[in-house]
Amino acid sequence: MKIAIVSSECVPYAKTGGLGDVIGSLPKALEKLGCDVKVFIPKYLFIDELKHGLRYNWNVGEMPIRVNGIVRSVHLHQATLPNSNVQVNFIDCPHYYNRGRIYTNDWDEDERFILLCKGVIETCQRLAWAPDVIQCNDWQTGLIPLYIKDNYNWDRMFDKTATVFTIHNIGYQGRFGKDTLYKAEINPNLYYPGGPVEFEDSVSFMKTGIVFADLISTVSVKYSHEILKPEYGAGLDPILRARKPDVYGILNGVDYQEWNPETDKFLPYKYSADDLSGKKLNKKFLMEHFRLPFDENRPLIGMISRLVPQKGFDIFVEAVDDLMKLDAQWILLGSGEYKYEEFFHKLSYYFPGKFASYIGYNNELAHLIEAGADIFVMPSRYEPCGLNQIYSLKYGTVPVVRKTGGLADTVKDWDEENYYGFDHGNGFSFYDYSGYALFKSVERAVNTFAHKDVWRKIQLNGMNCDFSWDRSAEKYIELFKLAKEKRSG
Ligand code: ADP
Ligand code: GLC
Repeated sequence: MKIAIVSSECVPYAKTGGLGDVIGSLPKALEKLGCDVKVFIPKYLFIDELKHGLRYNWNVGEMPIRVNGIVRSVHLHQATLPNSNVQVNFIDCPHYYNRGRIYTNDWDEDERFILLCKGVIETCQRLAWAPDVIQCNDWQTGLIPLYIKDNYNWDRMFDKTATVFTIHNIGYQGRFGKDTLYKAEINPNLYYPGGPVEFEDSVSFMKTGIVFADLISTVSVKYSHEILKPEYGAGLDPILRARKPDVYGILNGVDYQEWNPETDKFLPYKYSADDLSGKKLNKKFLMEHFRLPFDENRPLIGMISRLVPQKGFDIFVEAVDDLMKLDAQWILLGSGEYKYEEFFHKLSYYFPGKFASYIGYNNELAHLIEAGADIFVMPSRYEPCGLNQIYSLKYGTVPVVRKTGGLADTVKDWDEENYYGFDHGNGFSFYDYSGYALFKSVERAVNTFAHKDVWRKIQLNGMNCDFSWDRSAEKYIELFKLAKEKRSG
């Protein structure tokens, strides 16, 4: 099966969060199962061509593509995804992508991703490569299903090409003014209140993807149910309910070549479930770096996150006085909204020796915190999948999470499981979205940490979980087959 995977992020080239991790690893798993996979992302200015071995494709040459009535000159560069034969296609349009960041608040943000959507289709044409399925990821790719069915339906080469729209986060919808219709050359007849591209007086890329894709998926089973409800649907729940039989949930896998304490290239001390002694050494190394006094009997709590409302920091703020009274130490790595950055920055001044923070993005430090911390906290308001708790499980770092989305699908509460006699809990979790519930769970984890044998059992339960892509990639293939049947039927 020929699969095109389109995204705004892909590790190791461009990442702001879990989307990058997924697009850097799912294609490899699909290839292993026999698929012919090509990835498509924008060629951002910061992508190091030499380091990643990008090659200019002379056969394709110049592709003139019109956005907002202006024809832009677009070119194709290609590379191979590390540890695989997956071809990555970089859509090169300096006018749109030679900016410092992946996402901008610039006035032409819609145009940047209109170009991506058109660029992918035109590239397939130039390569004479007709995908069986185009998997579109998040709003940046939302116009592709419409383009395949409308603007480009003159091209017989796409007659059998199905589209799957994968929602990684319904909170980001790509909504723009009505002038986007013209910029994107969307048939104006599709825009009317409640119409397929209209959402609350705006052109919505995410709604367009949901309406026109043959099938829709999201990144955990629990989240696929949650987004059908007003509480989690961010306004699009009625649209999703209308397509309920076509909405699937497939849990993300993780790349254990990148995230494995036995081989992690960023760790000064490797360790495994059989011998956890390296974990303690990483903790010491990490704490020295942050000038926190090391005490092996006091748990170190880690947090790594985009600092945005989704991640539940308002309940952290609510509970902070109680949390800081616990006999534990904290390290936070994150960047995002100024109010949270300032809050955590200040916290490290108020609680020296107890709370430390690094405001910014640092991949190496993310690996080190996963390895050095004893407990990992993720109190998300909603979480489509979440990868950090899955990494934490592998690193023997016991997660404390809110029971929502992928967090609920991956973290089993120790007390609950133990109470029912299963004995295979791998973390701690809470339902109520409140500071009190968060505090009580963290308190439970901190108290349990003192019982070394129990703690080790919880750690091992987590370390022995397998969230590699193998199973989930098979589910994607089933989904792609269904989408193809739907398209031809
Ligand atoms: P989301 O995609 O919503 O941000 P995930 O848990 O799926 O949440 O994925 C987050 C990914 O981004 C993880 O790989 C995590 O390590 C990484 N990450 C988040 N914030 C930072 C940061 N400040 N520095 C380095 N890595 C980060
Ligand atoms: C989104 C979600 C996160 C998920 C990631 C990858 O960024 O917020 O929960 O893990 O996408 O699918």
